[in-house]
Amino acid sequence: MFKDLIMKNRSVRKYHQNVPVSRETLMELVDLARLSGSAGNRQSLKFLLSWEPEKNATIFKHIGLAGQPQEGERPSAYIIILGDTEIAKEFGVDPGIVAQSMLLGAVEKGLGGCMIAMINRKGLHIALNIPARYEICLVVCIGKPKETFVIETVQKKDDLEIRGWWDERGVRHIPKRKLEELIVE
Ligand SMILES: Cc1cc2nc3c(=O)[nH]c(=O)nc-3n(C[C@H](O)[C@H](O)[C@H](O)COP(=O)(O)O)c2cc1C
Repeated sequence: MFKDLIMKNRSVRKYHQNVPVSRETLMELVDLARLSGSAGNRQSLKFLLSWEPEKNATIFKHIGLAGQPQEGERPSAYIIILGDTEIAKEFGVDPGIVAQSMLLGAVEKGLGGCMIAMINRKGLHIALNIPARYEICLVVCIGKPKETFVIETVQKKDDLEIRGWWDERGVRHIPKRKLEELIVE
């Protein structure tokens, strides 16, 4: 069921870092991105893959992954979504579209991940020697989840609640607004 896939697709912050994710798996995920919609079908996004510990460590240093997982609980792989400025000057919502396609693909494979917009873009550009023509849009973490999740209904509507929380057993609680609340009459 498609809804099950959506329910399982949670933003994972703790991973079994010892479970590797191969380049081949990442290529399969990028193929889902390739087949996704793109404004004007410009297909201006490119992808930088990382599945080796050294490069992973460099990427981790430049992203803000909530919960700040310790070594051993960090993602096993990353896909950096790059905007190719020789194809387009703005990338609009395309990075979000492809990120979601890849995350759903990862979940279907028994993996999980998280979109990361909080990026030290300048630092990552330099650290990975990314050519100037590419703009860093989003980073997608991939790995074997080491967390379980519970979806809650938003009650108090304050900022602290909406961010979600981990309980004493390490279960992540994610509040979502009620369906009726989303409809504008
Ligand atoms: C566009 C986008 C950017 C995000 N950036 C970050 C980020 O920089 N760091 C992080 O830990 N989580 C990030 N997240 C994950 C959100 O915090 C997460 O979606 C939210 O807490 C709800 O959890 P859920 O994805 O499990 O429903 C991002 C999610 C989206 C859609």
